[in-house]
Amino acid sequence: MLKKVLAVLLSLTCLAALFAGCSGGGSSAAGGSSAAGGSSAGGEKTGEGKTIGIALTSKALARTNLDSIYLTQYLEEMGYEVMIQYSENDVAVQNSQIETMVSSGIDGLIVSPSDGTALAGAMELCHENDVKVCDYDALIMDSEYIEYYATDNLFEVGRCQGQYIVDALDLENETGPFNLEIFAGSMTDNNATYFFDGAMSALQPYIDNGKLVVQSGQVTFAECSTEKWNAANAQTRADTILSTYYSDKRVDACLTQNDDLATGVISALKSVGYGTADKPLPVTTGQDCNVSAIKSIIAGEQTSTVFKDIKELARAASNIIDCMVNGREVVIPEDKLGYYNNNVVDVPTYQVSPMVLDKSNWYELIIESGFYTAEDLGMTEEEAKAAA
Ligand code: BGC
Repeated sequence: MLKKVLAVLLSLTCLAALFAGCSGGGSSAAGGSSAAGGSSAGGEKTGEGKTIGIALTSKALARTNLDSIYLTQYLEEMGYEVMIQYSENDVAVQNSQIETMVSSGIDGLIVSPSDGTALAGAMELCHENDVKVCDYDALIMDSEYIEYYATDNLFEVGRCQGQYIVDALDLENETGPFNLEIFAGSMTDNNATYFFDGAMSALQPYIDNGKLVVQSGQVTFAECSTEKWNAANAQTRADTILSTYYSDKRVDACLTQNDDLATGVISALKSVGYGTADKPLPVTTGQDCNVSAIKSIIAGEQTSTVFKDIKELARAASNIIDCMVNGREVVIPEDKLGYYNNNVVDVPTYQVSPMVLDKSNWYELIIESGFYTAEDLGMTEEEAKAAA
């Protein structure tokens, strides 16, 4: 119903803006070069004289750097002043950063929560001060003031990861059994539940029929979660699992739900001898396309990741906040529209479609699309082509 209402509430100028920012399917990785700032009919800079606050999580996360680069670029192209803050995953810090930005007079806020369960008060403050909010990446729970959200198709990200393992082990045809261990994200990140459920939708049938065995027995989200998505925490848990359950067994696949977790788990695996011809590394997954993960995939260590087009995401969020701040209706193209429930409202959401990346398609997805340059990966063009 809401979907229909939204579809009708379109302002043509914002329609143009969102389409302008969201070229093609998930594979294009473009968007960075398409005209930003086209959100006003006359072509004038719609952000002039206005400020957008950006509240992000940790600077240490590779993807957060890309979030900040592209959000800043697109908003500045529209004429906005940009104020950017990182909470380093401390939600008290993030709350006070938002308070400070609100009292400094920002017009709009793009916020990626450090802890989605602890920002409802800050959202109320934004509402009271007429600061428009576009939620970014992870959902802020328990707040009626979240009007729009830009993220990835979260269940699909997880499903892609699980299906990658199913395909890599050829579980349809092989009898196995194969050993699997599961490393999920943070329990305070609403996204992580979707990733976990998506992955299990592909893996559970094979756990049920015995082709996949989780020797540790740790199969619930709570058991498999990793505090703060921290690589070192994943490594510690992997160390314990390997020494307790695998002294005389081999692990064939690890569902590692982002690139940081994959890094931690691969370190644990290598420390007990995986990564040689006799003892190859298991199939691993990831998401974010961190530069280090792409290098690891090229080197044959991490097996796969999920490409989530941060340019498209940043473009969508920039256009949403631009529409909101200028009092125009937001429209999300039908093929990108989803709804995420934050316990209070179903939040209309722009969803980026994920794509699996591995050794077979990294060059096309990452280099040919212009998402990274060969230089970003520490290579010359020729070296990158040769490695593809
Ligand atoms: C994001 C992932 C990221 C993770 C850890 C999730 O909410 O969607 O891209 O890897 O947080 O920061």
